[in-house]
Amino acid sequence: MKVGEFHDSNRKIVGRTVLHHDVLESTNETAKELLETDIEEGLVVWADRQVAGRGRQGRAWASPAGGLYVSIILRPKEAHAWILGLLIGMPVVKALRHFGVFAGLKYPNDAVYQSRKIAGLLCEGVYRRDVYHVVAGIGVNTNVDLDKLPPDVQPHATTLKREVNLFVANDEFLDYLLNQVDDLYSRYRNTRVEFLLKDYRGQCTTIGKRVVATTSKGKMIGRAYDIAANGALVIMDDAGGKHEFVEGSLEVLK
Ligand code: BTN
Repeated sequence: MKVGEFHDSNRKIVGRTVLHHDVLESTNETAKELLETDIEEGLVVWADRQVAGRGRQGRAWASPAGGLYVSIILRPKEAHAWILGLLIGMPVVKALRHFGVFAGLKYPNDAVYQSRKIAGLLCEGVYRRDVYHVVAGIGVNTNVDLDKLPPDVQPHATTLKREVNLFVANDEFLDYLLNQVDDLYSRYRNTRVEFLLKDYRGQCTTIGKRVVATTSKGKMIGRAYDIAANGALVIMDDAGGKHEFVEGSLEVLK
């Protein structure tokens, strides 16, 4: 059920309108359904919990009450849409830092703190009536007790509540987050993507670490070395060969 609709005309594009629901299957799915209607770019769908939250690579995203679950509808230039999914990790990290968790980005766009995941992003590209849209879904473990997450997730996850003594209300976190995403999106539209990728590289804690990348082509072990101009993670193998990783699973070795 929709429980509220908020407007903020100070924002440029992202978060001028926020549709707040108590429970949804998945905010990304609801956002995609809304694409059938004439909706403004930057519209945000927010749910207090999800019963079928989705993660990357077909995984589920546990979405108990207390967490923050939002999807943002964007209409970027198609050429860079994939990179946009990477860059939106930056405002998420910025918001976490603002509220006291010094998180970093695990490639491509997981927010992690001390090797535990605290937020994830699922960006989906969708054509509707010949117009390309990106639905950027963001899930943040804000006011969640770790034991509310599935047992297999718990050892690799953390929450804002666990890391910070102060209570942070979801509406306060969301307000700050949307301001940051709005700023990032306007930079994305107005500056060269190389500049933004430079910022991304600075926040990506995977760089310099040994990693195991698993793709449809097999496994690759090496050191995460750089972010390429196309947004791929460059991995240097032990023989000095460079490989680009974009899609698959990535394990960071200790
Ligand atoms: C991941 O790290 O695997 C991505 C998790 C993305 C979760 C968010 S929660 C809001 C939006 N709705 C969904 O069903 N998924 C995304």
